[in-house]
Amino acid sequence: MNLINRLLAGTMAVGALTALSPVTVSAQTAEVLHYWTSGGEARAVGALREEFEAAGGTWVDAPVAGGGGDAQATVLRSRVLAGDPPTAVQIKGPNIHDWADEGALANLDEVAEAEGWDDVLPPLLRDIVTFDGEYVAVPVNIHRVNWLWINPELLAEVDAEPPTTWDEFNATADALLEAGITPVAHGGQPWQDATIFETVVLGLGGPDFYREALVELDADALSGETMIAVFEQMRRIRGYVDPNFPGREWNLATGMVMNGEAAMQIMGDWAKGEFAASDLEGGMDYLCVPTPGTSGFILNSDSFAFFEVEGDDRIAGQRLLASLILGESFQETFNLFKGSIPARTDLPRDAFDVCAVRSMEDLDQAVADDSLVPSMAHEIAIGRSVRGAFLDVVTQHFNSDMSAEEAVELLLEEVELAM
Ligand code: GAL
Repeated sequence: MNLINRLLAGTMAVGALTALSPVTVSAQTAEVLHYWTSGGEARAVGALREEFEAAGGTWVDAPVAGGGGDAQATVLRSRVLAGDPPTAVQIKGPNIHDWADEGALANLDEVAEAEGWDDVLPPLLRDIVTFDGEYVAVPVNIHRVNWLWINPELLAEVDAEPPTTWDEFNATADALLEAGITPVAHGGQPWQDATIFETVVLGLGGPDFYREALVELDADALSGETMIAVFEQMRRIRGYVDPNFPGREWNLATGMVMNGEAAMQIMGDWAKGEFAASDLEGGMDYLCVPTPGTSGFILNSDSFAFFEVEGDDRIAGQRLLASLILGESFQETFNLFKGSIPARTDLPRDAFDVCAVRSMEDLDQAVADDSLVPSMAHEIAIGRSVRGAFLDVVTQHFNSDMSAEEAVELLLEEVELAM
């Protein structure tokens, strides 16, 4: 048992989890820890706050700046270790099961029953938010990671079409460089490097290879020829970013595509939330296409979990917040702002734009042809320590002259150490 688990076992009364029943009481307070601080993200979380306050709740905002969530995860761990967990937290993937395994999360079964979650959630999300058959979190969306966002005017300057293979991508990027245009807008942060990395893994290796390497952590997949080709492609992409990429926040890179400072960005569809916040229309003001070579779907999904807390008002606040998140109107409003598609699959599609509808259609197709894969970069595929090994090696390679062969050797070593 690691340090956190040992300390938690001491501080957490392991007894029966408090079941959150959907009854309402006077005071309903929720301190909400999240990292949605960019334009689109803030609009989306603002919609949740508005709905919560309209229903009588008192929202205490606890934002942690820094896209991707690594900074927020550090704050969460320190808060829990200090015995002062937030009322609600934006969380996802195996992290939900880790906290549930410590007995730290409230049981949401009564709210789930009252709101009919079983009838509207796809099995892939239900698996993420239930632990030992009990609901311990509630999903708010489905994000797709493997998107390429394109400024159509800059692409037209080199008479190029949206690339569908990495060879076409490289040829287009070379032509853009030749024309004095920055091909790729990027923020040099480990999670952003890993976001590009996993789209290349899927694009060059396909969904089976993706699962072998990033989910099963198969040694041959991690160190073989295909992974060498992935790092060689990462080296090409490194040559297409501008000199000021280190440390840039992801949404500022999206802004570069919007403002014509760069032609393309490889990023999940939270980037669409930034375009939407600037009233830009998908398919017109910008293009959204799957990253080269990927017909599949790299899934990321955000959820909210509710820690065991003291105080009737906070427990009532948890019940209220949990009961709102899968509501039909909220699911539409939130996901239009966030750039994601709804977690509930029974909503009409007419309010959603061409990119969101493409995401819904490609998700259905990916489920049908088994090309739906969980995001490693966004903490759906694997736990934090092994994910950390991937991020370390991918970022080291991206920011050095390390060869692809050296990178795969280091990757195998680091992943095996972290397992
Ligand atoms: C992801 C998160 C998204 C988005 C992105 C950038 O990990 O799931 O909702 O916010 O980070 O911050």
